[in-house]
Amino acid sequence: MEAVSAIILAAGLGKRMKSALPKVGHPVLGRPILWHVARAAKAAGISEIVFVLGQGRDRVMGTVAQYDGKVAVQEKQLGTGDAARVGLSAVSRKAREVVVLCGDAPLIRPKTIKALIAARRKANAAAAVLTGILPDPSGYGRVVRNAEGAVGRIVEERDADASIRRIPEVNSGTYAFNRSFLERNLPRLTDVNAQRELYLTDLVILALEEGKVVAPVVAGEPDEVRGINSRRELAEATGILLRAKIDALLDSGVTVVDPGRTYVEAEVEVEPDTVLEPGVALMGATRIGRGVRVQTGCVVENSLVEAGAHLRPYSVLSGARVRKGAIVGPFAHLRPEADIGEGAHIGNFVEVKKSRLGKGSKANHLAYVGDSLVGRKVNIGAGTITCNYDGIAKHTTVIGDGVFVGSDTQFVAPVTIGKGALIGAGATITKDVPPYALALSRAEQKVLPNWVIRKKPELLTKAGLKIPRLPGKAEPK
Ligand code: UD1
Ligand code: CA
Repeated sequence: MEAVSAIILAAGLGKRMKSALPKVGHPVLGRPILWHVARAAKAAGISEIVFVLGQGRDRVMGTVAQYDGKVAVQEKQLGTGDAARVGLSAVSRKAREVVVLCGDAPLIRPKTIKALIAARRKANAAAAVLTGILPDPSGYGRVVRNAEGAVGRIVEERDADASIRRIPEVNSGTYAFNRSFLERNLPRLTDVNAQRELYLTDLVILALEEGKVVAPVVAGEPDEVRGINSRRELAEATGILLRAKIDALLDSGVTVVDPGRTYVEAEVEVEPDTVLEPGVALMGATRIGRGVRVQTGCVVENSLVEAGAHLRPYSVLSGARVRKGAIVGPFAHLRPEADIGEGAHIGNFVEVKKSRLGKGSKANHLAYVGDSLVGRKVNIGAGTITCNYDGIAKHTTVIGDGVFVGSDTQFVAPVTIGKGALIGAGATITKDVPPYALALSRAEQKVLPNWVIRKKPELLTKAGLKIPRLPGKAEPK
């Protein structure tokens, strides 16, 4: 839709959120409220998006950039009419139609925006307004229809009398406008109302004065018109979008064992035949391949989990990659740039950061692998630690293919272990080990016979053991 641009009104402070963050920056399913609105506009085929922003706008610049948007700054919040005027000044000349969206209403669907544009064109109207019939319309502007069924007026709750307040049809704050109508009439708005603001909704009266119509479009899904003004409404909107996200996964062939206890953010992708068990959270730009099993309590953020992998309970992944068929957890922690090779195993209480583990390698128990390059079929014993940090800088540990690392080994990086080497348990490795070598680093074991009997017999007493008689020593009296 080349000739249609969108203006998203998002300069309001949102006092009822009681927050330092501007209202439209609060996340719903991991993305700002504003992001959802912009996404819907883009998906409806609108290419140009103008964001009208006010204080705290630096906090939503990520969304603006992602949608290649323009920013129009409204310095003072003089009302929605003023915000639209500010926005229109940034709309490109070639746009013949302008869709105005509320930056605080994230439930709007692309097909509804398209329907709104179509309705305005069909009625050759000055504007089309998205409305909704709500069981509790309080707080919203009410739509007063005229004898022909078109919009006669929109009255804000604070300007409404009792009979108007009884009208269940509300204004969503989303409109499709003829651009030249908008340009002509925005400067004509006045602030003669309860809030002393320039109301965008007063354009209805100005349209009628021009002998034009304003066409109403009732939202099929009343939730779509919901604006977020409080944390309660934020939580409700999150619940609605979450359920829709999970339904979409179910429809696409993903098993979600307990939809009520599964959290999946807006941009997460999951392929068919994957099973999400109860209590799973998938966040950010996470992608999960086919046939993956994600067990209870896993928290996966900005990570890639490839086909056939298995995340056992309570594993936490952030910025990690788990390749085909790998097994992770329970209780594993994969931090940014952890890259777990095909068929590899990461077991309980193993932390991996900025490390690549080759195909078929294993670190099954209690280990820290950081800043490392681990080859194929390496076995990392329990308690192995890469000492990657010397207090100033991070250093790399390189472990070749097929290395066997005995338990409780420390690699003091930078250090390189050649392929096929064997590290004896309990080693502190400070020097490179050539391929196929055995590396041992242990203090020689001393054994002092009967030392406990002679020096600490009370330990034996405490343990309920009889204190044996030492040869050559007289029976105690
Ligand atoms: C507005 C509508 C109301 C509708 C409701 C739907 C008007 C006068 N009223 O009321 O009919 O039912 O939305 O949610 O339009 N904004 C600015 N600059 C401003 C004022 C507002 O950018 O100076 C932005 C806000 O950030 C928000 C949107 O416009 O995203 C709506 O503003 P808000 O103050 O929430 O309007 P409502 O009182 O809810
Ligand atoms: Ca609002």
